[in-house]
Amino acid sequence: MIMNKNLLRVEKYEPEVEALLSEVLEGFSSRQKQLPCKLFYDKEGSSLFDEICALDEYYLTRTERAIMKENIGAISNALGKNTLLIELGSGSSRKIRLLLDSIKNPAGYVPIDISEEHLVDSVKSLARDYPGLRIMPVYADYTQLVKFPDFEFPYSRKVVYYPGSTIGNFSPSAARRFMKSIAKWAGRGSGLLIGVDLVKDKAVLERAYNDGKGVTAKFNLNILKRLNRETGMDFDLAKWEHYAYYNTDKNRIEMHLRSLAEQRVHVNGSLFSMKKGETILTEYSYKYTLKGFKELVSNFFAVEEVWTDVDMNFSVQYLRVL
Ligand code: AVJ
Repeated sequence: MIMNKNLLRVEKYEPEVEALLSEVLEGFSSRQKQLPCKLFYDKEGSSLFDEICALDEYYLTRTERAIMKENIGAISNALGKNTLLIELGSGSSRKIRLLLDSIKNPAGYVPIDISEEHLVDSVKSLARDYPGLRIMPVYADYTQLVKFPDFEFPYSRKVVYYPGSTIGNFSPSAARRFMKSIAKWAGRGSGLLIGVDLVKDKAVLERAYNDGKGVTAKFNLNILKRLNRETGMDFDLAKWEHYAYYNTDKNRIEMHLRSLAEQRVHVNGSLFSMKKGETILTEYSYKYTLKGFKELVSNFFAVEEVWTDVDMNFSVQYLRVL
C-alpha cells in the first residue's frame, strides 16, 4: 500500500450505539416520527449517495461542479495562499480535487466525515494523487465538533468547505445556529466556501429526489436496513416505500418512508405501531433564494462572492467570518 507520509492518523470521535438508539427513540416519540438524516451515511449509504450524485435527475452535483470549474480562478483567489481547507462531510473527497488543483500551496486538508470506511478509502486515494499534501482525516459527526483540533504547522487562514447544499438538511433556525457555530469554531477572518441549492420549479426538484432508477428510494430505505443491523430493530423492508415531495410553503424537499401496512416495530424493548400510510420523516432539504440565504447568515458572515449557473439552479458562495 502506498502511504503518503503526510497522511496523519485518523482522528476519531466515534458515535456510539447508545447514542444512536436514544436518537431513534426520541425521533419515534414525536407525532411525526422522524430519523436523523445523518444515519443515511453508513458504508452502503455513502456509496448510494455517490450514485445519486451521478444521476441525470440530480442536477445539484453536476451544477455545483460546473460552477466551480467555470469560476475556479476567482474561487482560488478568494481562498488565498497557504490556506488550511476543512471539509464538512467530505464523503468521497471528489470536489476538493478541483480546489487542490488550483489553489496556491494549500497548508493542509482536513476531511471530516461520519462514515469511517468511506473516509479512509477516499483519503488513501487522495494521498496517492497529492503526495505533497498534509491530510488530517477526522472521523466524526461534524455537527458535534466543539473544539477545532490543534495543528502544529503554519497556515495563513482556515477555510471551511461545505459543498453539496448539505446546509439544506437543517431547518432555517437550526441552520442559523449551525452557521454561528462554524463561525465561532473557525474564528474571525476565516472563510466558508459553501454550496447552496436554490428555490426552483417544483417538478425539477421532485424529479431530483424521485429518480427513475430508484437509487434515492434505495438510499432512503437503507436507513431501516442499518437500524436493523446496528440496533436490533425489526423493520420489514418490504412494508415501506420511499416518498419525497416538495413543500412549496416551506421551500423544502421532504423525504419520508411510508408504511404500506399496519405494522409493529420493536426498538430495544419498546414497541411502536405504525398505521398504513403513516410516515417517518428522514430528511429535509431546504432550498434558498440568494437573498434568503444572505439574511440567514448575516449576523455571523459577510457574503463576499456568489457564483451561480446561468439558470440559477445552484450557488457556490464565499463567506467571511465577521
Ligand atoms: C447531501 C443533503 C445535500 O439534500 O440533496 C440526496 C442528500 N437526499 N438525495 C440533498 C440527498 C436525497 C442531499 N444532501
